[in-house]
Amino acid sequence: MSESKAFYLTTPIYYVNDAPHIGHAYTTAAGDVATRWHRQRGESVWFLTGTDEHGQKIMRTAEANGVSPQQWADQLVESSWLPVLDVIDAVNDDFIRTTELRHTERVQRFLAGLKERGDIYEGSYEGPYCVGCEEFKLPGDLADGTGEYEGQKVCPSHGRPVETVSETNWFFRLSAYADRLIAHYEANPLAVAPTSAYNEVMSFLRGEVQDLSISRSTFDWGIPVPWDPAQVVYVWFDALLNYATAVGLGDEPGSAGAEKFATTWPANVHLVGKDILRFHAIIWPAMLMAGELALPHQVFAHGWLLVGGEKMSKSKLTGIAPSQIVDHFGSDAFRYYFLRAIQFGADGSFSWEDMSARYTAELANGLGNLASRAPAMVNKYRDGLLPAAGPSADAELALQALLASVASVADESMLRLDFAGALAAMKSFVDAVNLYVTEQEPWVLAKDPANDERLSTVLYTICEALRAIAVLHHAFMPKATTSLWDQLGAEAALGPIGSQNVTDVGRWGQLSEGAVITKGAILFPRLEETAG
Ligand code: ME8
Ligand code: MG
Repeated sequence: MSESKAFYLTTPIYYVNDAPHIGHAYTTAAGDVATRWHRQRGESVWFLTGTDEHGQKIMRTAEANGVSPQQWADQLVESSWLPVLDVIDAVNDDFIRTTELRHTERVQRFLAGLKERGDIYEGSYEGPYCVGCEEFKLPGDLADGTGEYEGQKVCPSHGRPVETVSETNWFFRLSAYADRLIAHYEANPLAVAPTSAYNEVMSFLRGEVQDLSISRSTFDWGIPVPWDPAQVVYVWFDALLNYATAVGLGDEPGSAGAEKFATTWPANVHLVGKDILRFHAIIWPAMLMAGELALPHQVFAHGWLLVGGEKMSKSKLTGIAPSQIVDHFGSDAFRYYFLRAIQFGADGSFSWEDMSARYTAELANGLGNLASRAPAMVNKYRDGLLPAAGPSADAELALQALLASVASVADESMLRLDFAGALAAMKSFVDAVNLYVTEQEPWVLAKDPANDERLSTVLYTICEALRAIAVLHHAFMPKATTSLWDQLGAEAALGPIGSQNVTDVGRWGQLSEGAVITKGAILFPRLEETAG
């Protein structure tokens, strides 16, 4: 009946207390690159992102700005969170906001189901709460304050004092799921990645897992608990459910929502920063177990972008807006740089110097230079029409073999979300083709008509190599590769670049004789040294 399961990938839904910085854009760009890659494997794909709009943090920010929380969220989503997707050239399939009715209704229905099954009970809670994290803390989690907070206990992430919450509210029997979670992760060691994240989750689960307070009664900016409207649902319990509510959680059999759910759930990858790993790898799967739903295949926790050795953050005012970088380098370079320079899963420092250096070396000089030389030579020596290749010599055979292996390393790396590994393999091919041009010296061959066939072979080889380079890099740099595709005249015979299958990219000889090669815009213009 229904189409096969989609490759379903999600980003965190971001808090709308402030505008996005490059940390948020990093996660979304990674998700966009991964999903574009899977689309180019011919898979059906669903890519979800969105915003987290309830809770005290948003409520207080709105109050401080003299507007209602809904007005605040609407304004931030319109002015910042939706536009940033265009800034970084992300093509998500859906965008969920937790204040939407489709979300709030499904959350309430899910919660009512858990209550019926006996996983929710009433209790009282007293303990520290960090509004910045929107998280209940254990006394042992806290640090000693310094400076103006000397003598007080502070949240180690936010450096600010925590508040004491003392309330009667509703609890979720999280502790009852610890053993099942351990068994699940032992049987599925790739369900939390990278390994450091897996180990953190396992050691937490082997410690003392406590039940979780999932409602609050002292403020009202949240989803009302269906059987107790004096309480609102704890913001994380509400937020985590977005991944399932966005695809029709709990809808009636036969409805469009149920059909969507059947073709997307469970998610293949929840991409998150390591700051929110435990919510995703402990609380969320326990909620799903309680709801008798399938667990996601993987939670992947990437590292932090650091500024001066510390996590870039809104609250510490160290955020850099994505447009600051994109305005200078372009969205392609933004997407390329962060995934190339930082091993996905590890922390990395951003610096303008490093970004400029890589932009110049790898994009303007490496790939960009190759891409501009080929059309120029085909124009000069063959009137802009791609010649047929003569017999391949060793140099051509070596490039063909290298491409085949690079293509398979790239694909295998991408399936592991090893973006840097994929890009390193791809760069080795770009470098090899640049070297080939230098060694074959087409401009020397062109001087003697006796070399005519050889020159045709060399020109064909360079253009065909660029075909593969364009296809391989398309998920990372959609704009430049689309322009390259045009310059290669590839669309007429092969169709649009986005439909080129990456698992077939290594098959040599796809460009055909007579393709119209044109000199287009420079892909990566050289830039002024200074920025920011
Ligand atoms: O935590 N480096 O939202 P949030 C890398 N609403 N990634 C970073 C980063 C940095 N310096 N700073 C932020 C929330 N991120 C919750 C999530 S999901 C059900 C609810 C990215 O606005 C990274 O993905 O604080 C991190 O996990 C996320 O933004 C946190 O965004
Ligand atoms: Mg945060």
